[in-house]
Amino acid sequence: MGGADLAIQTEALKKKYGDKEALAGLDLQVPRGVVHGLLGPNGAGKTTAVRILSTLLKHDEGTARVAGYDIASQAARVRYSIGLLGQHAAVDEDLSGRQNLVMFGRLYHIGKRKAQQRADELLERFGLTEAAGKPVKQYSGGMRRRLDLAASLILAPSVLFLDEPTTGLDPRGRNDVWESVRGLIAEGRTVLLTTQYLEEADQLADMISLIDNGRVVETGTPDQLKNKIGGDRIDIVLRRPHDVPRAARLMGTLLRSEPETDSDNRRVSAVVEDRVAALTTVARELDEAGIEAEDIALRRPSLDEVFLHLTGNGTVTSAEPSLKETAQP
Ligand SMILES: Nc1ncnc2c1ncn2[C@@H]1O[C@H](COP(=O)(O)OP(=O)(O)OP(=O)(O)O)[C@@H](O)[C@H]1O
Ligand SMILES: [Mg+2]
Repeated sequence: MGGADLAIQTEALKKKYGDKEALAGLDLQVPRGVVHGLLGPNGAGKTTAVRILSTLLKHDEGTARVAGYDIASQAARVRYSIGLLGQHAAVDEDLSGRQNLVMFGRLYHIGKRKAQQRADELLERFGLTEAAGKPVKQYSGGMRRRLDLAASLILAPSVLFLDEPTTGLDPRGRNDVWESVRGLIAEGRTVLLTTQYLEEADQLADMISLIDNGRVVETGTPDQLKNKIGGDRIDIVLRRPHDVPRAARLMGTLLRSEPETDSDNRRVSAVVEDRVAALTTVARELDEAGIEAEDIALRRPSLDEVFLHLTGNGTVTSAEPSLKETAQP
């Protein structure tokens, strides 16, 4: 794909903070009009990448173009082509939602009338009209995040950076933000979305780059990433915990793949090649062996599994509760 078709393109982008290499040669190619997810654990370099691409931070080595402009030599042009929703919100707590948006507009040198008009449009669009006059400190987490989104859209940017747009939100707040993001996508904007929520990347992104230690370790569609670790899985929940080892041995032999076990949840899970054959064979053989199953299901691998598999970093998900969708209320 030629550079002209790309909304974001980085080559061997590097950044150090003292001795700490935050970006270790980041290569990204994001076509126009797609949502590209940057998925990675704490400290992977996601925010560093976003800050560099939105010209808030200078890189050390490599090159990058955003909306067709070089981030080093054409930084001002980049700035007027992008919107940024930072990991930590930039709104003023004591001002109302509307005042905040008007202020952002004024910062971008939009005339007062136009800034007010734009603020009202955006408040309406993100369902904040009623709360427009209230100070932001009275907003819920979801309302704040929607206000942040509105603020990032003041200039109607073609490229939007969303750094962890839903971290800390409850499921409802997260859904509201997802809906808003889907609306932005429908307008043809390019979105670079960073997230630690695998489900979020799966829901919103056309393409996902997994990043770890400042580099891209894998890029693909959510389905491609799932296929990388070997197709579908069969999940069995047993009635009795002490059957877990025996069921695992049996499934290992039948499916010729090493099953994973979770004794606490009485679960055995293995990769399958032929879905239906695997399901019937496993069900029959367990039954013949006198092992009672409470549930048997086929499923696609989760992105958690993809991430663990591809980065080989088993500590990431267990140490980081936000990576576990199931840990969310
Ligand atoms: N201002 C800074 N000074 C020193 N080190 C920093 C600074 N900012 C980030 N780092 C380090 O650089 C690495 C990358 O940080 P970055 O914030 O880009 O990660 P991240 O992927 O956004 O993580 P998170 O998911 O926690 O937001 C981390 O090891 C971090 O500790
Ligand atoms: Mg970050």
